[in-house]
Amino acid sequence: MDGDRIMIWFTSDFHFGHEKDFLWKPRGFSSWEEHAEQVITRYNEVVDDEDTVYILGDCMLKNDDFGIYCLRQLKGHKYLAIGNHDSDARIERYKQENIFEDIQYGYRIRNGKCDIYAQHYPAMMGNYKDKHPVICLAGHTHSPDRFQNMANGCYNIALDAHGCYPVQLGTALTDIFIYRAAHPVPAYPDRSPYCSSCHNQYGCEARTRYDIICPGYDPMNGGTF
Ligand SMILES: [Fe+2]
Ligand SMILES: [Fe+2]
Repeated sequence: MDGDRIMIWFTSDFHFGHEKDFLWKPRGFSSWEEHAEQVITRYNEVVDDEDTVYILGDCMLKNDDFGIYCLRQLKGHKYLAIGNHDSDARIERYKQENIFEDIQYGYRIRNGKCDIYAQHYPAMMGNYKDKHPVICLAGHTHSPDRFQNMANGCYNIALDAHGCYPVQLGTALTDIFIYRAAHPVPAYPDRSPYCSSCHNQYGCEARTRYDIICPGYDPMNGGTF
């Protein structure tokens, strides 16, 4: 809580109990135990009991008892958007333990400046370039780049991209609008995320104003390489 103002936070991909070093090493820790302890400490450093927190999936892996032990320590009114590691059995456990106020696949949050879809998986949003954009907040990719999918109107909210801290709504929107001002989005349909030839997302180095065209592809003569 900031003064009398209740804060809204977003975060994702705690992976409590996940012992593999590809998860906790890139986040700057020396063990999965230290990772869990620091994620909890940093979260509770910024979130207050009255705050609302949207946790966008992948709460725990491997050791569910340990995961629940960790989740029970987190402050705030918590809402879960289901991730690929939040299995039916784990969702049942979250319910039994009363961890979350609500559990959904995603949440639509209306804001004065934009509409927000908060979910586990990054999505391609339709009118990112408009004055009243629809923005997706998501995790799942574990990229340290918070703007990884910003060309599609999707902002990476996961711990990996934010020093293992949750992100306050206003902070995320400010970050997004500053980025948008510096990176104007081409008009539809020039911004297809997939190259029609190599099928990689933004895989082509030599993108012309038509993102969908591979280097060397000649639309006048047709055909693909
Ligand atoms: Fe994840
Ligand atoms: Fe995931």
